[in-house]
Amino acid sequence: MRDAITITPPELRVRACAPPPPANLDALSREILDLKRRLKAVILAHNYQVPEIQDVADFVGDSLGLSQQAARTNADIIVFCGVHFMAETAKILNPGKLVILPDRDAGCSLEESCPADKLQALQATNPNFYTVSYINCSAAVKALSDVICTSGNAEQIVRACPPQRDILFVPDENLGAWVMEKTGRPMTLWKGNCYVHVEWTHAALVRIRQQFPDAPIVAHPECPRSVRMLADEVCSTEKMVSYCKQSPARCIIVATEPGMIHRLQKECPDKVFVAAPTERCACNNCKYMKLNTLEKLLDCLLQLEPRVELSREIIERARVPIERMLQVSSGALQQLP
Ligand code: 13P
Ligand code: SF4
Repeated sequence: MRDAITITPPELRVRACAPPPPANLDALSREILDLKRRLKAVILAHNYQVPEIQDVADFVGDSLGLSQQAARTNADIIVFCGVHFMAETAKILNPGKLVILPDRDAGCSLEESCPADKLQALQATNPNFYTVSYINCSAAVKALSDVICTSGNAEQIVRACPPQRDILFVPDENLGAWVMEKTGRPMTLWKGNCYVHVEWTHAALVRIRQQFPDAPIVAHPECPRSVRMLADEVCSTEKMVSYCKQSPARCIIVATEPGMIHRLQKECPDKVFVAAPTERCACNNCKYMKLNTLEKLLDCLLQLEPRVELSREIIERARVPIERMLQVSSGALQQLP
């Protein structure tokens, strides 16, 4: 571990976060786009995907935006460049469609922290529990939930929960704590976290702010409270885009997975983004998100595999809380049943 952070010009730090592009990027990308057109497929990519995947996607966004796109697409095939639970959500919303992803092993530490049998055991301890599950969980956990939320709508969803019920919020304790602070609603929190976002510390953020005193900090709500306290804005990855667009600041410090920087740089070409360093390194890639590569994306389009397969029973049960979330988010539902 280093005891001091080397001052690296922001341009270099940002570039150091991105993996080097393959030499044949253009040919590969063209092949992917051509195949996608012929297959009538849609490519959905999360903001944390490598830049070259973001650049061939039809839609790049946060978990909420991607679920909304998945719910309304009329493409025959959905290619989901993100992590497995996101592709599962697309399948639950489109049971009749083929949903494929570049790498089946693209998991999530939050999903792993909350096995369905353990959740069921906790739910059995209080019949008054109302389970709000962060979308970063398995389809089996979604099937046990009353409503799903994302980081982009968690506050709105919790405010819409029945007031007489005891909220059980799973699986991210940091997102849950942030929502409790915002809503004042007490909740029982599952003890899970994102292994990427808990790497940022108060001390590392204080040091980077000393280097860029005029730069506001934007942080994801999966960060610990000590980090969120220093942030000028705490929000989902998509809201980071709107925050940065409207901010008068020329330089902004970003405390989330560094794939985000590519999206921000594209949307705000005249601004400088500094990937907030952790104690251990200058950036913090999610090893799951970064399993996806352009080569694997082409392979999955050629093979139409790996596919998301779920039982009809899980799909039917998991669909209800996801649709509730989409209804609350669109304003069609104010109060949850
Ligand atoms: P968003 O909801 O902001 O897309 O975040 C998803 C995620 O996995 C954060 O680590
Ligand atoms: Fe899961 Fe964290 Fe990776 Fe997001 S960044 S997919 S929460 S491990």
